[in-house]
Amino acid sequence: MAVAGAAAVRYPMWALAGASTAGNLLLGVDYYPDQTPESLWDEDSRMMSEVGFTNVRIAEFAWALMEPAEGKFDFAWLRRAVETLHKHDISIILGTPSAAPPPWLTVKYPDVVEVNEKGERLHPGGRRFTCPTNQVYRRLSLSIASEMAREFANTPGVIGWQIDNELTLGSSLRCYCNFCQAGFQAWLRSKYGNLDTLNKSWGTVFWSQTYTDFAQIPVPLPSGGDPNPGLALDYDRYQSYANVSFQEEQLVMLRKTCPRHFVTTNNVGLLDTIDLRSLYEKLDFVAFDNYPGFFEMLLHEQSAGPISPDTISSNVALGHDLARSIKGGKPFMIMEEQSGKAGQRTFSPQPEKGKVRLWTYQAVAHGAMGVNYFRWDTATFGAEEYWHGILNHDRSKSPGYDEIRQAVKELKALGPEVLNSNYAADMALVFDNDCSWAVKIQPGHNALSYMTQVMSWFSAMSASHTGIDVIAPGADLAAYKIVFAPVVYVLSEAQAARIRSFVQGGGVFVTNFRLGVKTETSQIVRTPLPGLLRDVMGVTVADYVPIYSAKQGVKFSSTLAGPDATCGIWADILQPAGAEVLGSYTSGEHAGEAAVTMNSFGKGKAVYIGGDLDAASLARMLRAVAASAGVKRPFDVPAGVELTVRKSGDKQWIFLLNHTSVAQTVSLPKPFTDLLTKEAQSGTIELSGYGVKVLQAVGSV
Ligand code: GAL
Repeated sequence: MAVAGAAAVRYPMWALAGASTAGNLLLGVDYYPDQTPESLWDEDSRMMSEVGFTNVRIAEFAWALMEPAEGKFDFAWLRRAVETLHKHDISIILGTPSAAPPPWLTVKYPDVVEVNEKGERLHPGGRRFTCPTNQVYRRLSLSIASEMAREFANTPGVIGWQIDNELTLGSSLRCYCNFCQAGFQAWLRSKYGNLDTLNKSWGTVFWSQTYTDFAQIPVPLPSGGDPNPGLALDYDRYQSYANVSFQEEQLVMLRKTCPRHFVTTNNVGLLDTIDLRSLYEKLDFVAFDNYPGFFEMLLHEQSAGPISPDTISSNVALGHDLARSIKGGKPFMIMEEQSGKAGQRTFSPQPEKGKVRLWTYQAVAHGAMGVNYFRWDTATFGAEEYWHGILNHDRSKSPGYDEIRQAVKELKALGPEVLNSNYAADMALVFDNDCSWAVKIQPGHNALSYMTQVMSWFSAMSASHTGIDVIAPGADLAAYKIVFAPVVYVLSEAQAARIRSFVQGGGVFVTNFRLGVKTETSQIVRTPLPGLLRDVMGVTVADYVPIYSAKQGVKFSSTLAGPDATCGIWADILQPAGAEVLGSYTSGEHAGEAAVTMNSFGKGKAVYIGGDLDAASLARMLRAVAASAGVKRPFDVPAGVELTVRKSGDKQWIFLLNHTSVAQTVSLPKPFTDLLTKEAQSGTIELSGYGVKVLQAVGSV
């Protein structure tokens, strides 16, 4: 499917347009000729070629150089850079520069700058500070992108486009300006058609908020009391829509002007600011940026305790699995991969020897088809002068240089068949923007975060090495044996129907507290919880209890026998109506009542985890349920080592990744060939610290 999928995303076009020696692979680097003396471009391009790179991404922040004054364009320098790179057989991905509007623009049109959630206008001087609705900003963004596209549509070496840069990472995550208010009102008019429907959907009779004109509808800025939850949820949806439609203006133009080029955009990991599925829907493939060392540094800044390698690796894996799943399993690209010390005011350590190669393989292990490293040379000025690249400030080779060269050589040898193969997953984890936004609007408990729940469920299950797709609530569930869906706070009738028929047909559905509380319009259901799924889950929620003081205890029944759990921030008190009780509260007012249940429904099972279980107990129980659903792989993999499988036809590639600094052993269920060393491997094998193996077997494992 992946190879065919890639073809559908104009894979042959890259081969046509690309001059790269590796045919159609994307193994490159992010380069800034705009920040580098022209006298060095030729040497840079030659050295890139020596590393084995096939492509660069350039120009995504160079608006001021390409349009020094409104309507005056200068692409001569960029053309010379493109020609120099191409001469050395390096293909070019061009970035459109809308993430960094120049000062002439913000001074002349100050309204393009976004207004934050307190109603304060941000200031220019950084990047990504613009309003997604503002028509002037849209017009000027489209204008510079169109001029670039016309200039480079037929330029040899240019193969594709990155629109903008990290649309999900604004200084303020939402804009609340007057233009956004007008855009929101227009969006609501087309969504609801009339005010009567809107007023009923939001329940505006509460606090006398009935609207008699669309022009009266506010944006959720600070007021006396919280905003209407329906309005607030629709505002999150509108802001996501505004960003997607901003991007689509450039996409439509690029499709017309540059039909031979691919088009994508880049973002980082699991963020809920924009609905990523809509953002990538019309793009050719997903591109993500990946900075594991920077993430680790941020975790250290936030927490006092030690951070296990699994915490970092599972968070990175979640980003990769999301990237792959956004377009239904199509191979994705890492547009920026950390290559050295990363950071701005403070920076992470230099990745230990082997780590950059390991991160590269982790991306490939989860379905990447290409990797670009960030960045070629380290800037000697600007906000990111300490974001270290492949060359140091003095242009000597960074500690990661040889490793990157090795990884690129190896990936070329593995070739397109591996890089375009499918990822094997028996399990799915639902990630739903609506639930994330609605829980943020009304968490019920300050410590309850949808994203944290999704991350902890993912990390619990990723240690099982059985492959997880990160799916939308509307996805087809039939391909999976087991589906995990934490905190399904907003549940549509369509989603409930899909879950019902999945379980009926033999699937296992596992969920937890706050199931089915709200409709899509953010109203609370008038039926006993869990609302639309009461019969499937075989329980009624007798009460829901935020926990602030002493944690509750939970004792498991013999089916899940193991140490007692503690229950942190939340407890749904379950009243079985046909479901088997797998765990009960042991303390407090609800001692003896059901905390965890499993219901047989049709040919499948539905598991309800009412309490917010501690991480170890949650992991133990999720893995036990998955194993009893027949989801397991016959490898003995120690903590800190990750295993994934990619496949194509009857071929399978097993990726083994050691995220620890010390050697680890893995026992194999049958003989394999190590594709990196070409050696036969069987029995118990050793992975060196931060070591990687790509094993091939014919037939199923
Ligand atoms: C990314 C961004 C790049 C650069 C890099 C290092 O998030 O796309 O432009 O800023 O981080 O900070």
